[in-house]
Amino acid sequence: MADNTQETSTPDYTMGYEDSAVERLSRFTAETDAAYLMAHLEPGMRLLDVGCGPGNISVGLASAVAPGEFHGIDMKESQVELAITAANDGGHSNARFQVADALYLPFPDNHFDAVHCHSFLMHVPDTMAVLAEIKRVLKEGGVLGAREPIVEKFFIEPDIGHLNKFWAIFSAVMIANGGHTDMGKELRARFSEAGFVKVVATGALETWGSPSETATLAEYVEYVMRGTVDDQAIAHGITTKDEIDALQEAMEVWKEDPGAFAAFSWGECLGRKP
Ligand SMILES: C[S@@+](CC[C@H](N)C(=O)[O-])C[C@H]1O[C@@H](n2cnc3c(N)ncnc32)[C@H](O)[C@@H]1O
Repeated sequence: MADNTQETSTPDYTMGYEDSAVERLSRFTAETDAAYLMAHLEPGMRLLDVGCGPGNISVGLASAVAPGEFHGIDMKESQVELAITAANDGGHSNARFQVADALYLPFPDNHFDAVHCHSFLMHVPDTMAVLAEIKRVLKEGGVLGAREPIVEKFFIEPDIGHLNKFWAIFSAVMIANGGHTDMGKELRARFSEAGFVKVVATGALETWGSPSETATLAEYVEYVMRGTVDDQAIAHGITTKDEIDALQEAMEVWKEDPGAFAAFSWGECLGRKP
């Protein structure tokens, strides 16, 4: 369901905050999913994680810059609470989290050595406004690292019951909510447009290819179909209840297929404030 409870620059957050959505994020770590940025971090740096969610990546970033200050912000209080718990459990005493809107970061100009975004820019309707705000809080020469999906390049094989039609439905809903489903391939262009320099883009593939992984993916995709996309997609005339039912049944068959394999494409980008 779209989350319309927040007066923020992301008024309709497509993914929602149910357990399945939070569980999906637990797969991410700084070591595996922010490696492209970790190489540029040093102890003593001051780092900001924008749209930090439940903090799975944040805690690794906090370790990388300790004893420097780590700050995480998210518009949703429940996610900030989870991130605080994760940091406390891991003994990350340099980590601070707070509720904030990415368009109004509660920090002075020229404050951070590094800023990180993961699976976040895709949700904010006004990409250039949020990049300008991030640039404001970065120091001269500070680094911005972002990693975002390229939904157009997601695949589920074999394509039982035209399962991959789901990505088109998902993208149409997210775009109707002001999101950018292929932000991962636009990062280098948007960073350059925002005035960042030394802008370099890379990419990565996230895969599901074992019985436990295909079961995990099926559970998540079914959550997205049922929990976030179906009512909106049907209301917008993008799909029908029958089609969603059929896709969900196909997903149940797919996860047991011995050849089941799926992959999500990610774009990554680094840029510096001049
Ligand atoms: C898909 S989650 C990613 C969380 C985390 N970065 C990760 O990858 O594990 C996106 C997060 O961005 C947050 N978010 C979206 N728009 C925001 C905004 N305008 N200001 C602050 N947080 C925002 C959402 O609340 C959500 O927790």
